[in-house]
Amino acid sequence: MDDLKAKYLSQIADASDEAALEDLRVAALGKKGEISLKMRELGKMSPEERQVAGPALNALKDEVNSALAAKKAALADAALDARLRTEWLDVTLPGRNRPAGTIHPISQVTEEVSAIFADLGFAVAEGPQVEDDWHNFDALNIPSHHPARGEMDTFYMHRDEGDNRPPHVLRTHTSPVQIRAMQAQGAPIRIICPGRVYRADYDQTHTPMFHQVEGLAIDTDISMANLKWVLEEFVKAFFEVDDVELRFRASHFPFTEPSAEVDIRCSWENGVLKVGEGDDWLEILGSGMVHPKVLEAGGIDPTKYQGFAFGMGIDRIAMLKYGIPDLRAFFDSDLRWLRHYGFASLDQPNLAGGLSR
Ligand code: PHE
Repeated sequence: MDDLKAKYLSQIADASDEAALEDLRVAALGKKGEISLKMRELGKMSPEERQVAGPALNALKDEVNSALAAKKAALADAALDARLRTEWLDVTLPGRNRPAGTIHPISQVTEEVSAIFADLGFAVAEGPQVEDDWHNFDALNIPSHHPARGEMDTFYMHRDEGDNRPPHVLRTHTSPVQIRAMQAQGAPIRIICPGRVYRADYDQTHTPMFHQVEGLAIDTDISMANLKWVLEEFVKAFFEVDDVELRFRASHFPFTEPSAEVDIRCSWENGVLKVGEGDDWLEILGSGMVHPKVLEAGGIDPTKYQGFAFGMGIDRIAMLKYGIPDLRAFFDSDLRWLRHYGFASLDQPNLAGGLSR
C-alpha cells in the first residue's frame, strides 16, 4: 500500500495536463484500477484482516482523490496565469487617437437639417439626379420657352441624332422631388428633400454641383403664416439661437404664388456672423405658396388643398454656420481642410443631444 501511495502521488505531482491526470485516475481508481482491485480483495479477507486493511485502503483512496483534485486546480490556475500573461495590457499607455476620418460639413449639415425638420413632422423624400425635362421644368410651371430655363445654366444629357425628345437634365434644383412625392403620396404631405443639384457655374460661391434642401407642406388649411413659423423654428434651431427675425421679400418663382425670398437679421463683426441681432440681412432661401398648376401636375386638387414650399442651399447655410469662406473647398478633398472642418465621426446630430457639438 505504501508503494501504491508513493507511486500515484509522485505521478500525480508530475502530471503535465488534465488528460494525464485522468489517465492516472483511471489507472488507480477506475473500475479496473489498482486501488479498486485491492478494495475488491477485502471480501476474501478474514474479518480481522479486513478491519486493518479496510480503513487503510479507504484512506489511500481519499488521499489519491484529493491529490487528483488539488493537482487539477493547480493546473487550471497555471492555465489562467498563462492566459493572463498573454493578455497583459499596459493601462498607462496613452489613449488611441480618435478615428482618422471625419464627417464632411455637407453631410453634417444635411443631418442637422433633417433632424430639425423630423422634429417638426417632415419626412425625407428623394428623387433622381438625372431628371426628365417634365419633372425638372414643365411640372413646375416652367414651360419650354420660359426665361427661367435659360437662367438655370442647365446641364443637358446626350440624345442620339434624330431623337427629338427633350433631353434629360442634371436636375437644376430639388423642386422636381416635390412633384414625385406628391404623385407618390398625395395630400396631405409634409416632406423635405435634401440632395445634389447641378448648374454650369463656377466661382467662390458657385460650383457646378451643390446641394439644396426642398421643403413641402400641403394640407387643407395651410397659409404663409405656417411657412413663417416653420422657417423661424428652423432658423433658431439650426443657428442655435433663442430668437431670430425673418424678413419676407416679395419675389418670383414660376412654381409658387405668391413667392418670397427670406432674409434673417444678422451682424458681421470682424467677419464673424451673428444671427438674430444687428443691422444686416442675410438671404437664405426662396419660398412661397405652391402654384395651383404645380399641385395639379402632382395630381392634387388645388380647389381642396394648398401648401407652402421652400428651397435652400445646404452648402450656403453650412458656410454661414461654420464660417467656411470658399464653397469650392467643399469639393477639393483636401485632407487638411477635411480635418479642420470635419465633424467627429461617431456624433449623430439630434435636437436633444445638441446639433453641432
Ligand atoms: N427651386 C428654387 C431654386 O432652386 C428654390 C425654391 C423652392 C423657391 C421652392 C420656392 C419654393 O432656386
